[in-house]
Amino acid sequence: PNITNMGLTARKIKKAAIIGGGLMGSGIATILILNNFNVVLKEVNEQFLSAGINRIKASLQSFVKKGQLTVEDYKKKLSLLCGVLDYEQFRDTDVVIEAVIEDMFLKQQIFSDLEKYCHHNCIFATNTSTIDLNIIGQKTASQDRIVGAHFFSPAHVMPLLEIVCTHHTSSQVIVDLLDLAKKIQKTPIVVGNCTGFAVNRMFFPYAQAACFLVDHGLDVYHTDRVITQFGMPMGPFRLADLVGFGVAIATRKQYYQSYPERCYQSMLLQILVEDNRTGESSRKGFYVYDDKRKASRD
Ligand code: 3HC
Repeated sequence: PNITNMGLTARKIKKAAIIGGGLMGSGIATILILNNFNVVLKEVNEQFLSAGINRIKASLQSFVKKGQLTVEDYKKKLSLLCGVLDYEQFRDTDVVIEAVIEDMFLKQQIFSDLEKYCHHNCIFATNTSTIDLNIIGQKTASQDRIVGAHFFSPAHVMPLLEIVCTHHTSSQVIVDLLDLAKKIQKTPIVVGNCTGFAVNRMFFPYAQAACFLVDHGLDVYHTDRVITQFGMPMGPFRLADLVGFGVAIATRKQYYQSYPERCYQSMLLQILVEDNRTGESSRKGFYVYDDKRKASRD
């Protein structure tokens, strides 16, 4: 869409809800409360909810340690967060950002459920990395409010935000999300709806090329070192650990299905998963991790 000529004014977003308190969901919640939005964080059980809230607390505490937040501000920001296990608190939310695992059926169900609880102007955003938004919205009557809000891990740090729109997404929703992005200090790009959107369509071939080289004999750690010397903040294997192999495998599968002619299919991640190495969150991936997230080669 030609977003410069829409002539629309962004609606005010006061309260946001995040579904899923994993790495992405907790990072998104963190950046929202840091920028003074009221946030409802929904998880499926107490254990996952407290893990998500603890991640948010740890991020805020690190801002305190760096002197970027006072202890009083830490408490104020944290008071904006409300952890829940059901949808009751969703009735007055202005935007919901779904950040659950890359499971199409689960996402379809969530958006269909949301219609029963949220008011009709509430924006339905998904943080999916690769799944077609038209398919996610298939069971939802009001597809005009479905939009992609694709953050990058760690979500409270990485500046880029892909705003993904389908042919149904209303111009008003795009304007609202552009405004939200500005308020949480993200750099938004508006992209069309296709597997991998813009960034992952560039990123996957890079990650696949790295796997191809390792499959043909190159050393993982050496490859990462070379790439950091080239100027990337971390190498592709350290990054796969950060993102987590669950997400990486699910997103790459979608990519293979959509663009088979562009793909090299490596089994590297699956082999590690079979050995119970799933990335940094399980403390073992290509690297092993200590309590302070320090990576060492294995
Ligand atoms: N996992 C989670 N958060 C991390 C992290 C990690 N491994 N490493 C650092 N961070 C957080 C820190 O906690 C800190 O946040 P805080 O202020 O709340 O404590 C913040 O990042 C900055 O950390 P540092 O001061 O240690 O900064 P660094 O200079 O070491 O930078 C980095 C860390 C920002 C993670 C940097 O290495 C980087 O940019 N790496 C590349 C990240 C990237 O490419 N992300 C995109 C992933 S792809 C994706 O998400 C798309 C999806 O569709 C798959």
